[in-house]
Amino acid sequence: MRIIESAEDALAFTGCTLVPTMGALHQGHLSLCNQAAARGVDVVVSIFVNPTQFGPGEDFSRYPRTLDADLAALRSLPTPPAAVFTPPVETVFPRGTEAALREAGSIELPACATAPQLEDRFRPGHFAGVVQVVSRLFDLCRPSAAVFGTKDFQQLRVIEQLVASSQHRFGALEILRGPTVREDDGLAMSSRNRFLSAVDRERALGIVRALQAAQVVLTPAAAEAAMAAVLRAHGLDVQYAEIRERTGLVPPSTAAVRGTCQALVAVRLDSVRLIDNDVW
Ligand code: PAJ
Repeated sequence: MRIIESAEDALAFTGCTLVPTMGALHQGHLSLCNQAAARGVDVVVSIFVNPTQFGPGEDFSRYPRTLDADLAALRSLPTPPAAVFTPPVETVFPRGTEAALREAGSIELPACATAPQLEDRFRPGHFAGVVQVVSRLFDLCRPSAAVFGTKDFQQLRVIEQLVASSQHRFGALEILRGPTVREDDGLAMSSRNRFLSAVDRERALGIVRALQAAQVVLTPAAAEAAMAAVLRAHGLDVQYAEIRERTGLVPPSTAAVRGTCQALVAVRLDSVRLIDNDVW
């Protein structure tokens, strides 16, 4: 397993399977790495906490940075990645962070990054930063495939739409979907779970229970009402709890039936923001 930092070294892995991450790796990230390894070409895991996808009041500065533990976890995989790409900010944004932040503002975004009013509503500017950094990582590593988690469903759709509309730039790049890995009690693994107090960790299970409650009702409206009730009963500060169609993440027709949509939830517990989703 090589640790690489430069654009030249990254380019040597052209054709790889890329797993983009911000580090603080948990079993969810590692399952994406195993899925990537199954393709049988070199796997490159990137670790880069991207400043341009965090809003002014968000947790960029306190985002966990645990590089030594991350490298140890990757080395202990059944098939460790060929390389871990830990670029300094100058490699990703040669004109610097300030310029990159300005440039993010004029990036053209796919519709599912602006229309749904889900993450885009509560994290304005977030998907511009994600599209910016992921495009840059694709340019640097020239992967033949890249793996993204279903945990961040809107992000996954944004990347899928980005690649579908930029074939001239990314070629036949394949986007693979990784299933969400959960703790034993069902809470989706997240680098941010470590910031939950014991009380909030218990409350966070309201997210799992809300997604389950949505599974036993028959209409999108009833599912949204069921989720809202469970989330409120757990004392959670709900940002959204919505049923959406699965492509553009816009509201489904009222006649939509279970199994054809996605249920998406975002809540805040003190200063920790958690998201999750499931098929509906
Ligand atoms: P990060 O939050 O580190 O997540 C890296 C990848 O791991 C994403 O594709 C995410 O969806 C996936 N992931 C997170 N939790 C997961 C879980 N419990 N089970 C399975 N997969 C999970 O998402 C980002 O970083 C960044 O926005 C990035 C795409 C790297 C761009 O900076």
